Amino acid sequence: MRILLVASAFNSLTQRVHAELRDRGHAVAVELALAEGALTEAVRRHDPQLVVAPMLRTAIPEEVWSAYTCLIVHPGPPGDRGPSSLDWAIHDGAEEWGVTVLQADAEMDAGDVWATMPCRVPPVAKSDLYRGEIADAALAAVLVAVARFADGSYAPRPQDGTAVRVRPYLGQGVRRIDWAADPTATVVRKLRAADSQPGVLDELLGAEWYLHGGHPEGVLRGRPGELLATRAGAVCRATADGAVWIPEVRARRLPGGPPTFKLPAVLALGDLLPPLPEHAPPVLPGLPDDGDPSSWADIRYREDGAVGRLSWSFPGGAMSTDRCRRLLAAYREACARPTSVLLLGGERDFFSNGIHLNVIEAAADSAAESRANIEAIDDLVEAVLTTTDRLVVAAVAGNAAAGGVMLALAADEVWCRAGAVLNPHYRLMGLYGSEYWTHTLPRRVGPAAAERLMDRALPVSAAGALRLGLVDRVLDCAPGAFAAETGALAAHLASRPATAARITAKKTEQQRREAETPLAAVREAELTRMRATFDDPAAPYHTLRHAFVTKRRPDATPPHLARFVSPASQTSSNPSGGRFTGTAPHGVPSRPHG
Ligand code: COA
Repeated sequence: MRILLVASAFNSLTQRVHAELRDRGHAVAVELALAEGALTEAVRRHDPQLVVAPMLRTAIPEEVWSAYTCLIVHPGPPGDRGPSSLDWAIHDGAEEWGVTVLQADAEMDAGDVWATMPCRVPPVAKSDLYRGEIADAALAAVLVAVARFADGSYAPRPQDGTAVRVRPYLGQGVRRIDWAADPTATVVRKLRAADSQPGVLDELLGAEWYLHGGHPEGVLRGRPGELLATRAGAVCRATADGAVWIPEVRARRLPGGPPTFKLPAVLALGDLLPPLPEHAPPVLPGLPDDGDPSSWADIRYREDGAVGRLSWSFPGGAMSTDRCRRLLAAYREACARPTSVLLLGGERDFFSNGIHLNVIEAAADSAAESRANIEAIDDLVEAVLTTTDRLVVAAVAGNAAAGGVMLALAADEVWCRAGAVLNPHYRLMGLYGSEYWTHTLPRRVGPAAAERLMDRALPVSAAGALRLGLVDRVLDCAPGAFAAETGALAAHLASRPATAARITAKKTEQQRREAETPLAAVREAELTRMRATFDDPAAPYHTLRHAFVTKRRPDATPPHLARFVSPASQTSSNPSGGRFTGTAPHGVPSRPHG
């Protein structure tokens, strides 16, 4: 079918729907709902067989829904209505939630139901939930709805008889934290319900800030509202009965002032911060002890027999210079441990989205910070590429983009959760790219496919990545099960006699590759291009980065999204054959792992 995706932004869920519908043989195009009135004309021009709206903040005009079947993805169970569904679900402490696919009509969220899918609500932040359990439920519901529509005989169910609950926008009045009275559990719930947008508006050190993200602290205590310590760029603040870590804040925009954007809290608060102790993360140094599990750390190491796991959780998947350096230090320590398999990657959500564009934007010298950040991430990738005494497995629990994908490709194997979306390209940020991609990407997918991936700049589903050879294994499991599943697979890998032989062969292979193409030359060639971009004030990178961090709406749908992409035009070759653990989507070989 020709399916047009209408969305307020080409966000993670829209990307996943785009990639997974293409996987199933549909031709897909995107139209962003930007200017008033433009949507009607755009839909007429595309003349699709079906319109799907994975994330739409505005209503579909009557001229559109009366002429085309339009399926709206609502992140709530049947009967739930309003613009802040997930915020309310987390705010109210719901343990079960759902996604409903409705037909657009005159009243928002009131149309006939094409499909609905329940899901669990684990204790995580809203955006993590959205990219995890909600996205899984949404995809399942969209695929059912599309199949029902294609079948032609399904009649969507009217909502008569469904208990309707219309809830308003969840405003700052309800979100506000009462530091003197709110216990840690309430503060964390309020912060999670507001992540990543809009944050919780608060007063801190004489100014107004939106607080982003929140993790309970197990040990530190103080006068409610007082700042107690810093850790890895986050600040710790006392609650009525404990304390929380706040990783990021955003200054409130002043009337007529420049747009503000999120930054690590210590960086944003800067000179306003009183002297505070840096409360070192419990994980480092001190491997293999995982530290105090009741406390928060953005980098952790765990060990189980011959398997080590170095995991991280960076907001937005962004790897600043500081994060890359701390992760490299942890990686080196992990490599000093007597393990034969090392898993790399966070337990949930983003794997990595490459260099930290917000920190770069905020730097006094953005070109210098870009250079420092790219060198730091390259150092990390190089350490992975040159590890020869154990197998390194990238465990990609969630989405990855640009240099973040290339970080995964540096590992010996890449295992990916079925729901992850990969964006293995840089050009939308005006960058040539680094992280040794010119070495790893063509080696994995072949030069022609590598060029197509870079050039088309489209998201790739996990199943699509497996077909291409970009990843080696896809695990069809819930977000909360990924860590345990990869742990079990890694233990099995470590126990196989063939693994020792593989590790021995790795060193020889690495020496052969180094003789053929020295890594230093690869790095220098990439960095020469990158430095030229960073140091050129007229390079589009600077404008694109500014637009990205300040979330400027594009003027028009980007041309590479606005045209229908037919499945036949996709790259598809994985001669070595990967593994799909679980139910195989269309066109993916399903094999038991062993
Ligand atoms: N630096 C800083 N922040 C980043 C980031 C990066 N490299 N990549 C993502 N983020 C942040 C976003 O600003 C957003 O923040 P928010 O929670 O305040 O809204 C959050 O992570 C989620 O990103 P978003 O763009 O909303 O997610 P998405 O799933 O819709 O899109 C990407 C994912 C990866 C396609 C998109 O974020 C992107 O293009 N990132 C930049 C990738 C890049 O060019 N990296 C630099 C080259 S190595």
